[in-house]
Amino acid sequence: MRNKKIDFLDLGNQPLANSYIRKKNLYKKERKYRLIVCFDTDNKLISIKKTYSSKDMFNNEYPYRSSTSKTMSLHLKKLAQKIKRIKPKKILEIGSNDGCFIKNFDKKKTIGIEPCTNVEKITKKQKYNTYPEYWSPSLAKKILKKHNKVNVIVSSNTISHIKNLDDVFRGINIVLDDKGVFIIEDPCLLECLKKNTYDQFYNEHIYVFSYLSLSHALKKHNLKIFKIEKLKIHGGSNRYYIKKNNNNIKLHKSVNYQKHKEEKYGLNNLKTYLNFAKRVKLSKKKLLSIFMNCKNNNKKVIAYGATAKSVTILNYCNINNTMINYFIDTTKDKQGKYTPGTKILIKKYSNLINDKVDYVFLGAWNFKEEIFNKEKKYIKNGGKFIVHTPYPRII
Ligand code: TMP
Repeated sequence: MRNKKIDFLDLGNQPLANSYIRKKNLYKKERKYRLIVCFDTDNKLISIKKTYSSKDMFNNEYPYRSSTSKTMSLHLKKLAQKIKRIKPKKILEIGSNDGCFIKNFDKKKTIGIEPCTNVEKITKKQKYNTYPEYWSPSLAKKILKKHNKVNVIVSSNTISHIKNLDDVFRGINIVLDDKGVFIIEDPCLLECLKKNTYDQFYNEHIYVFSYLSLSHALKKHNLKIFKIEKLKIHGGSNRYYIKKNNNNIKLHKSVNYQKHKEEKYGLNNLKTYLNFAKRVKLSKKKLLSIFMNCKNNNKKVIAYGATAKSVTILNYCNINNTMINYFIDTTKDKQGKYTPGTKILIKKYSNLINDKVDYVFLGAWNFKEEIFNKEKKYIKNGGKFIVHTPYPRII
C-alpha cells in the first residue's frame, strides 16, 4: 500500500529557522519556504512537507549550543548518571553538539557525531573523540572498524532532524551491540497537540514523533521500543529506550500506557490534526491582537530567547520589528544578528530589571521555569510576560 500523506496545517512562508542575519545582509533576500505539516495515514508519521538538505541546515554556521541552558546541562548530566549505572564500555552520541552530554564521561569511553564543524571544534579541542560528519550507515561502518560495537547510543533532539530514518536505523543496527540500548529523546507529539505548541514545526524538525509513528518506523529494522519516559524538557518530550529484537529485555508497562494514551487522544485519526489546525489559527489571532494592543498603546515589548521555535511563531502570526523592540539571548553566536524573516535585533542578555520594559515575549517558553527563576526580581516588581502556550495571554 502506498503511503498517504495529507496536509493539515499551513504555517505560511517561513525563513530557515536558525539562519540569523548579519547586519551587512539585512537587505539581502532571504530564502523562504512554505511550512506545511502533513499526516501520513498509513504509518501515522507527522512531518513537514518541504524539507532542506542537512548541509543547508547543519553546517559551519550553526548557532545552537546545548550548554547555554542550565536546564539542558542538568538534564543531560542526569541521563549520563543513569547510563553510568549500567557500566557501558562505549557510548556513542548522534548530535553531540558542544559536548554537553559526552563531557559527563571519561573521554576514552565516548564517541560523538556532530556535523556542524563550528560546534564539533569545541569538543575536538578538548580531545574528545568526535566526528564532524552526518550519521549514516557508512559512518557507522567506519566507527565499527575503529571502535568495535558500542553498548549505548544516545541521540537527544537529533533524530527528528534527519529525513532518512531508514538510514539512521540501518546505521544503528551496524554499530549497536546485540545487548545494547539506543536512547532517543525528542519532542512529544501528544504534548505538542495538548499545549498547542505549533512552533515545534520548523525546517529542522522534519518529524514530531509519537510512539505510534516511531515504533512503526523502527519495526522494519527489527528494533523495538521497550520503555518510555516522559520528560519536561523542550516543553514536553519523550525518552524512548530501544533494543534489537533479539535482545530479551522485558517490555516496560510505560510502552502500552503511552500507546493507549495516544490512541485515546486520536493520534491515529486525521480529524485530531484538523482540530489542532483550527486551534492554531485561533491562537494566531489572539497573539497578534495582544501585540497590536501593545503597539497601539505605545508599550515597550522585548522578547526573551531567540529560539528556532519563535521564528515559526513570529513569522506565522505576522509579528514584526514594529511590535518587538529587540530580543535578548545568552548565545554569543546569535548576539548582534537579526531574527530570520522578522529582522528583530538580538542583543546580549541583560537583567530584565534594568531594561525598563512593559512586556517580555517568552521566545524560550521551553525554559520557562529556568527563566522565571532567573527573573524573580522582574516578576516580583510586577514585570509581565507574553506567552503563546497553551493559549496566548499576558502573565
Ligand atoms: P532552544 O529552544 O532552541 O533550545 O533555544 C533556547 C534559546 O534561548 C537559546 O538561544 C538560548 C536562549 N536562552 C536565553 O537567552 N536565556 C535563558 O535563560 C535560556 C534558558 C535560554
